Amino acid sequence: MNADNHPLLEVENLKAHLTLDEGVLKAVDGVSFTIAPGQILGLVGESGCGKSMTVQALMRIEPKFARVEGKILFHPPRGLPVDLAALEPHGQEIRAIRGGDIAMIFQEPMTSFSPLHTIGNQIVEGIRLHRTSSRRAARQLAIEMLARVGISNPQQRVDEYPHQLSGGMRQRAMIAMALACEPSLLIADEPTTALDVTVQAQVLQLMRDLQSDFGMAILYITHDLGVVANMVDEVAVMYLGKIVEYTDVNSLFANPLHPYTQALLKSVPKVGKKQRTRLASIEGSVPVPINRPPGCAFYARCTKAIDGLCNTRDPQLVEAEAGHRVSCFLYQEEGEAVDEAENQGGHYAG
Ligand SMILES: Nc1ncnc2c1ncn2[C@@H]1O[C@H](COP(=O)(O)OP(=O)(O)OP(=O)(O)O)[C@@H](O)[C@H]1O
Ligand SMILES: [Mg+2]
Repeated sequence: MNADNHPLLEVENLKAHLTLDEGVLKAVDGVSFTIAPGQILGLVGESGCGKSMTVQALMRIEPKFARVEGKILFHPPRGLPVDLAALEPHGQEIRAIRGGDIAMIFQEPMTSFSPLHTIGNQIVEGIRLHRTSSRRAARQLAIEMLARVGISNPQQRVDEYPHQLSGGMRQRAMIAMALACEPSLLIADEPTTALDVTVQAQVLQLMRDLQSDFGMAILYITHDLGVVANMVDEVAVMYLGKIVEYTDVNSLFANPLHPYTQALLKSVPKVGKKQRTRLASIEGSVPVPINRPPGCAFYARCTKAIDGLCNTRDPQLVEAEAGHRVSCFLYQEEGEAVDEAENQGGHYAG
């Protein structure tokens, strides 16, 4: 908690609905979570469950055809709380926060770096925007950050272009750029997925070290439960735009409650097996959330589904055990269910 005992970020009923020719795609559909200062929250789930869209909505870099609703209350360490959901996506206020108090790293560093400018100039630009206007001080800081993330010969590397660096080096440079402005929240969207396993382990270790040095909170997005186990304090498991289970990392692995989480954990390769597969080894695949029928989103793939209940009513995320929330009828009274069709004003076509 910060000085006023507020969490750093409070996300409440966040929605990102995309208007497509085929209908409204509910990429993020009522997601709530909180991140305390210095805490690492993992957001996990299979491909297409809405992890990146959540991040885009938080940073207000959602596509033009997306409608963002809900509350994204950010309490910066200095300054007044601000609801990011209420800001103009291209306005000055969010631009002052993005890359400053909240920084982001992506799977593919080439989306963060422009190929046309040296990495040094790009890091310097961010520092001058958010921290100091002195070019000389900013350059010095950029070199220090490159050294800090383990880039050798940073005095020379600072003047190189992104394509001159290896994939692992670029990822380190992107982390340097993100941390140069000392963000209180770092959002990391699958930052190591594109790297080979050895480099991935190095970058993860680097992020852990930097987190303990800089003390920033991290929202860590991944489909890899191995990474979750090593990296995060709390975990939110996402399925079809909703959080289906939310607890601390130890409870999640020791006592997974949602049938989806249980299936995810079963699909993790056992220690000793070489290959780390993606999560999609659960039976069936993630449907596209357009005109989704009422009921639990996981119903079609769930081995424990109760017919007549799970396919008609929408389970709510409720505390099934202390500090352990799950949205599944196996753990709640029918009375806690919400009739999705009522909730949505009966717009379902499916
Ligand atoms: N620009 C877009 N146009 C249309 N649909 C989109 C767009 N971006 C995302 N979607 C859809 O929104 C849903 C959520 O996508 P999102 O990228 O957030 O998934 P994800 O969990 O990040 O997946 P991955 O693990 O593959 O990165 C998916 O159904 C996806 O097809
Ligand atoms: Mg993604």
